[in-house]
Amino acid sequence: MKTLLLAVLIGSVLSMMTIPLHPVHETPEEKAKFIKSLKYFRSGAGPTGIPLTFNYEYYGLVQIGTPPQNFQVVFDTGSGNLWVPSSSCYSVSCTLHNTYNHSKSSTYVADGKKIYIGYAAASVAGFLSKDTVTWAGIKIPNITFGEMTSFGGTYWTTKRFDGVLGMGWIAAEKIPPVYMTMYSLGLINAYNFAIYLVPGTGVGSAITLGGYNTSYSKNDWNYIPLLNTENWQIPIDQITIGGQKVPINGMKAWIDSGTPHLVGDNPIIAQFNKMMPTVFANCSNLASLPTVVITMHGVDYPLNSSNYVYTVVNDGITTCETGWIGNSGLDNFIVLGDLFIQVYYTLFDMGNKQIGFATRI
Ligand SMILES: *[C@@H]1O[C@H](CO)[C@@H](O)[C@H](O)[C@H]1NC(C)=O
Ligand SMILES: *[C@@H]1O[C@H](CO)[C@@H](O)[C@H](O)[C@H]1NC(C)=O
Ligand SMILES: *[C@@H]1O[C@H](CO)[C@@H](O)[C@H](O)[C@H]1NC(C)=O
Ligand SMILES: *[C@@H]1O[C@H](CO)[C@@H](O)[C@H](O)[C@H]1NC(C)=O
Ligand SMILES: *[C@@H]1O[C@H](CO)[C@@H](O)[C@H](O)[C@H]1NC(C)=O
Repeated sequence: MKTLLLAVLIGSVLSMMTIPLHPVHETPEEKAKFIKSLKYFRSGAGPTGIPLTFNYEYYGLVQIGTPPQNFQVVFDTGSGNLWVPSSSCYSVSCTLHNTYNHSKSSTYVADGKKIYIGYAAASVAGFLSKDTVTWAGIKIPNITFGEMTSFGGTYWTTKRFDGVLGMGWIAAEKIPPVYMTMYSLGLINAYNFAIYLVPGTGVGSAITLGGYNTSYSKNDWNYIPLLNTENWQIPIDQITIGGQKVPINGMKAWIDSGTPHLVGDNPIIAQFNKMMPTVFANCSNLASLPTVVITMHGVDYPLNSSNYVYTVVNDGITTCETGWIGNSGLDNFIVLGDLFIQVYYTLFDMGNKQIGFATRI
């Protein structure tokens, strides 16, 4: 399936990064304390909010098994599978992360079918298992997920999150995405979810299931119909840089919470680079960089330089680099990743097959 391959190829987490990383692993005691510090918050009939943590990617808690085993996962709208590292894996990636031990779960059901997922930055492989997943305090029985045993490259060893929970429409091995199962079992009230990302420390970031939180935005919602029901893609009407039109032809946007940056096909990023000055690594020219305006469904979504420049603090030194990254695997579209969602609170509305944006506060 072409679209799936594409989704699996670039739709993710996991894009092409060149950013130096902070120390990401702590002692098991520190990790346990950190996991304990994460709390669910829920209101009776209203939407359910799950706090997110930021460390290059935004991630949050999901539990698998009975009694529950804890995992930190990226809620990735660019892919559809749930997976975590397996306790039957002894690679460096597995020793550095929480692993799932099915022998310790009374609700585990064996499957054993092999699974491989190739993301843009790195691949993972393992086998399928079934178990109860607890998410935001809600128990979802018999979820099929990947118990991963093989981690391509060094990408995963440097990441603080353990796995991925795909929030897209389709998944490898045609496994129904967790969110769809939750909805079909009547475990969420509204068939949508909203992602709120706070830049910088990430403190306060949250994913809301079954609705959105009115205190996260100006509630100036605009809705854009999806191009299809295979991924979170919407059409772009126009892009301008400093008021100058960028030549585009049928360009699409893929709204992907699993991609930290703004990733475009190589020709469009080459065009961007022609139309805007280079970002100085010492950050001294941010004020003179132009605003990029993306117009979708008749509404302008401006991104100023503070929005699209990626800042990295390493050993107390702040470095700036452009968030616009070219990739050869894309065909006439731009992945609007976390840098975009940090500016526009995003509602992923499966029920109405649309995406909503509101200005974040
Ligand atoms: C909505 O956000 C406010 C402010 O962060 C928070 O206090 C409240 O608990 C959130 N509500 C839900 C249902 O997540
Ligand atoms: C998995 O759990 C079983 C049962 O508690 C235990 O015997 C086994 O050592 C565990 N495996 C790993 C790799 O921790
Ligand atoms: C999960 O599926 C297995 C068979 O695949 C079945 O025996 C079991 O009852 C199911 N559990 C729940 C909670 O639905
Ligand atoms: C910042 O870097 C630019 C380009 O390398 C250089 O021209 C400029 O003098 C630097 N500014 C400061 C304040 O270091
Ligand atoms: C860019 O926009 C953000 C709001 O998204 C605002 O807080 C910030 O001050 C703006 N920065 C510049 C350089 O205009």
